[in-house]
Amino acid sequence: MSGPSTYNPKSGFERWLDARLPLPRLMHDTMSTFPTPRNLNIWYTFGGILTFCLAVQIVTGVVLAMHYVANANLAFDSVEAIMREVNYGWLIRYMHSNGASMFFLAVYIHMFRGLYYGSYKNPRELIWIIGVLIYLLMMATAFFGYVLPWGQMSFWGATVITNLFSAIPVVGNSIATWLWGDFAVGDATLNRFFSLHYLLPFIISGVVGLHIWALHVPGNNNPLGIDVKSPQDTVPFHPYYTVKDAFYLVCFIILFAAFVFYSPDFFGSPDNYQPANPLVTPPDIVPEWYLLPFYAMLRSIPNKLLGVIVMGGAIVTLVFIPWLDTSRVRSCRFRPLMKQFFWAFAVACLLLGYCGAQSVDAERFGVPLVWVARIASLYYFAFFWLIMPVIGLIETPKKLPASIAQSVLGDNAATPAE
Ligand code: HEM
Repeated sequence: MSGPSTYNPKSGFERWLDARLPLPRLMHDTMSTFPTPRNLNIWYTFGGILTFCLAVQIVTGVVLAMHYVANANLAFDSVEAIMREVNYGWLIRYMHSNGASMFFLAVYIHMFRGLYYGSYKNPRELIWIIGVLIYLLMMATAFFGYVLPWGQMSFWGATVITNLFSAIPVVGNSIATWLWGDFAVGDATLNRFFSLHYLLPFIISGVVGLHIWALHVPGNNNPLGIDVKSPQDTVPFHPYYTVKDAFYLVCFIILFAAFVFYSPDFFGSPDNYQPANPLVTPPDIVPEWYLLPFYAMLRSIPNKLLGVIVMGGAIVTLVFIPWLDTSRVRSCRFRPLMKQFFWAFAVACLLLGYCGAQSVDAERFGVPLVWVARIASLYYFAFFWLIMPVIGLIETPKKLPASIAQSVLGDNAATPAE
C-alpha cells in the first residue's frame, strides 16, 4: 500500500473490528485517502466502469441461470421462455448479452489507454500482465456464454473454435474430443460450457482483486507518465475520483441502457434466433464483434495450424510489452514518433475487426479483404516486436514537465521536494 495507514477508528465497535478484521482500514486506505495523481483524465474512469460491468454480468447471470436449462434439447426453448415468460426476463437477458459487449468495449478502451500512457512500464509490469490474464479469461467466458442459447451461431461457433485444437499435431484430435466430451459438439459440450461459464466470472473477480492490489503498490500512472514526486501531485481518492468515476459511470450506463432498450440485438446475430442444427451450416460463421480481429488473423492464413499459432501469438505478445518498449519515457504525449505508430496500430486493429466480419472471399475497391487482414496482422506483430523496441531507442522525446503539480497548477505549484 502506498504510504502508512491513516485510518483512525472512532467508535468502540470500529476499534474492536480493527483489531480483528481490519476491513474498514483497508477500504479507508485504498478507496478514501489513497493518494491519486491529480491529473487523471476520463480514460482513468474505465477501471471503475469495468468493475461495474463485472458485477452486472455476475448478478444478471446468476438470475438467468435460475431459469436456463443446460440441455441440448431444452436450452434454446428455455432462453425463449426467459424472454417471454419470466418476469423481466427479457431485461435481464438483454442486460447480460449487451453487458458482455459493453464490458469488452470498456476493456478495449482500458487497454488502449494503458498502451498510450505506457502504464505497463516499470514498476507496473504485473498490473499489465494480470490484466492480460483477465482479458484471456474474459474471452473464454464470453465464448462459453455465446454457446449457451444453443442457436445456430452458438453451435457453429463452438464447432469452429473447438476444432482449432485439432490442428495441433499428434494430440490435436484427442484434445478436441476431450473438450467436447463426445465425438462432436453436443449435449456434453453444452453442459461443461455452462459449468465453466458460471465458474470463470468468479475466478475473474479474484484476479481483479490481484490487479487492484498490484495497482495500489506503486499507485496510478497518469497521462503525463511521470512519477509522483510530492504530496502536491496527488489528491485523496475520495471525494475527487469517487465523484468523477461516478459521473462517467452514469454516462456509460446511459449508453448501455440505449442499447438494451432501443437496439437490444445490435451486437447479436440473427442466425442465433434459429435453433442449433448440426445438419445446416450458416453461410457465414461470425464470432461476436470483440473477437473479430483475432478471427480475421486466423482466417487470413491458409494453414490451419499456423493460423492458430498466429492468433495465440497475438495474445501472448501482450505479455511481453513491458520489456519490448525500450523508451525511458512512458506517455505517448511526449513521444511524437511513437504516437503515430500507436494510432496506426489502432487503425490496424479496426481493419482486422472489419475484415473478420466479412465473408472470406470479400473484396472492397477491388482489393481482396484477406490481403488487408494479412497486412494488418503483419503490422500488429511488427508494432510490438520491431517498432516498439526500435523507436524507443531512436526517438527523441519531448521535454517532460517538472512535476504533475506544475503541469496542472502552473506557477502556483510549489517546487517539488526531491
Ligand atoms: C475485469 C477487467 C478489469 C478490471 C475490473 C480492471 C480494473 C482496474 C482498475 C479499477 C484500475 C485503476 C483505475 C484505472 O486506471 O482505470 C485499473 C488499472 C489498470 N489496468 Fe485494469 N482492469 C481490468 C482489465 C484490465 C486489462 C485487460 C488490462 C490490460 C491488459 C488492464 C491493465 C491495467 C493497467 C496497466 C492499469 C494501471 C493504469 C495506470 O495506472 O495508468 N486492466 N484496472
